[in-house]
Amino acid sequence: NQPKIVVLGSCSVDFTTYCPRLPVPGETLHGTKFTTSYGGKGANQCVAAAKLGGNTYMICRVGDDQWGKQYKEYLKNLGVNVSHTYLTQDVTTGIAQISVAENGENQIVIVAGANNFLTKSDVDLAKDLIRDADLIISQLETPFETTLEAFKLNNGIKLLNAAPARTDIGAILPYCTILCVNEPEASLIVNFKVEMSNVTDALKKILEFGCDTVIITMGEKGAVYSTKNKSDCVHVFCDKVKPKDTTGAGDAFVGALAKFLTDDKNQPLHQIVGAACEVATLSVTKEGTQTSYPDDFSYYAKKYDYTIL
Ligand code: RIB
Ligand code: NA
Repeated sequence: NQPKIVVLGSCSVDFTTYCPRLPVPGETLHGTKFTTSYGGKGANQCVAAAKLGGNTYMICRVGDDQWGKQYKEYLKNLGVNVSHTYLTQDVTTGIAQISVAENGENQIVIVAGANNFLTKSDVDLAKDLIRDADLIISQLETPFETTLEAFKLNNGIKLLNAAPARTDIGAILPYCTILCVNEPEASLIVNFKVEMSNVTDALKKILEFGCDTVIITMGEKGAVYSTKNKSDCVHVFCDKVKPKDTTGAGDAFVGALAKFLTDDKNQPLHQIVGAACEVATLSVTKEGTQTSYPDDFSYYAKKYDYTIL
């Protein structure tokens, strides 16, 4: 009886162009390559956990078009449970237009499409699954009220990845076990520019809003976290690599975190965060999102470096 990891969130198709650098407004650039691939933050996180051996369920909406049908089939072949992956009539599957520069930086425009149609009645249809989930993950590419409803139902670990960034997430924070954000997302929540020098203030401020644990991912600097009622802020380091494509690295982190949190309750959090950082780091060394997530990874024998801030 493997722990159930339920993802409630987005499922989109990524149209990615690779270019020497990102264009400035009004500029046309020659790119070097174009790919279409399976993306969307929710599905990325689900696939990251599934590839690591997690028992995953995807609650989402895709369009009733070719992309939606293909996506569902693909998830099923990866071993993801798709009994709550719904095709939606007369809307397009969500898409993301992504540009990736040679230095690994990216720029993304999303059109949510069917993702916008994931509603409270879908939560109701999946209520037994949501209630029983050992861990539920959600993001902000699908309607906020739907996520809130699901988090209220679940008795396990509720992991919110507040991406893409938005400010008005106060209502859900009391229901979150873990909030995971990157620096810009954290900055919007605390209302100052978060960086390593002030990250402990940011962690404390977010904890006051209500969740049990906050994790801020800091790119190549690793991740920092803090937990309610413990004064420590912990910084976990990660290896430096030459980035090829950072798209979906945050999703690799969140999916891996979910898998490792449900794996073995005796691992200290700095080990779990360190391992999730390593999965994310591996993903940036390869092109693409889901295609760059590892499927043969184990961390038990490793010791991740960390320091108390
Ligand atoms: O986090 C990366 C994802 O964001 C991409 O796969 C794209 O779909 C966008 O939603
Ligand atoms: Na990648």
